[in-house]
Amino acid sequence: MAIKRSSDNPEPPKQTRKKTSIKQSNYEVTLLSPQANTQESEQNEDKIRPQKLADYIGQKKLKGILQMAIAAAKEREDPLDHLLLYGPPGLGKTTMSLILAAEMGVDCKITSAPALERPRDITGLLVSLKPGDIIFIDEIHRLNRMTEELLYPAMEDFRLDVTIGKGQTAKTRSIPLPPFTLVGATTKAGALSSPLRDRFGIIQRLRFYELDELTLIVKRTAEILNAAITETGAIEIARRSRGTPRIANRLLRRVRDYVQVERVETITEELAATAMNLFDVDAQGLDWTDRLVLNTIIEQFHGGPVGLEAIAAATGEDRKTIEEVYEPYLLQNGYLSRTHRGRTVTAKTYRHLGYAPQEPEAKQTELW
Ligand code: ADE
Repeated sequence: MAIKRSSDNPEPPKQTRKKTSIKQSNYEVTLLSPQANTQESEQNEDKIRPQKLADYIGQKKLKGILQMAIAAAKEREDPLDHLLLYGPPGLGKTTMSLILAAEMGVDCKITSAPALERPRDITGLLVSLKPGDIIFIDEIHRLNRMTEELLYPAMEDFRLDVTIGKGQTAKTRSIPLPPFTLVGATTKAGALSSPLRDRFGIIQRLRFYELDELTLIVKRTAEILNAAITETGAIEIARRSRGTPRIANRLLRRVRDYVQVERVETITEELAATAMNLFDVDAQGLDWTDRLVLNTIIEQFHGGPVGLEAIAAATGEDRKTIEEVYEPYLLQNGYLSRTHRGRTVTAKTYRHLGYAPQEPEAKQTELW
């Protein structure tokens, strides 16, 4: 994977350079062509990522929709429609974008909204595109207004409207862009402005993975890493992965370290469980921070309801991290419920953390 900075970005087309003098900026972009793979430290990561849609496990509905979009775009010789992927982190938004590029035979430039601070960051990126290329913008809900407004004509008409000069002498120029595809990724689809959201032709949510899908992912990664694992060993890691491939692969690496140090050849269910307990990942996959959040709500706020700000202050965790990284899984799996008055733990949480169930919360949440 080659990290591309301003200095080694492809030159913009000559005609474009004559008309304007857009300075190349220092945005951080990963330029990936299907063949690109240079840095050794990142080779393992690249090896683990599925490269083709056929190798991508799970997200069946999304795969079906994209398969159709790819076939249709190829037939028409058009770029893919702009695509918005939303859902919790670690579910494969970047991977899917790289797969789309590989399937379409184009390059994928990866960046994130916080890296597109100045107008020249996005203009520099856009003028460096080749026809059909994909731009992947992570955390797209965090784009600033100026960048977002530059994207509107770029997405809609493949046109860049730039202002040259200042004050009364300022002029607006339109620069034609090659047709391209924007893939936006966000954990918060609701935080996107409607004009931006409306410019995506395909909007899809990534879901947490099922146990059998995660088990397949663990086995696939283990094979790539040359780590021997039993079926039940893979299931044990999958069970503790919070429905998230990134966590499954991370846990597998840690368990692999453990068995290596213990001089054991194969990852079994028992060894996997021992290793993950050691890393503070419990039988349901809750980690130290999950338990801190839940214990805090029980011990300091009588089980809730309590606001996010108060939880963040009491745990010392970042509010956004709690909301975007920890909460989705806890909510979806019935450890937490969200009401207009704040967050409340459930009877399942009391049981799981070894507390006696509380009335009336236990009764109210027994439905989980
Ligand atoms: N590695 C990470 N996510 C994956 C997925 N969805 N399919 C296969 N391998 C993966």
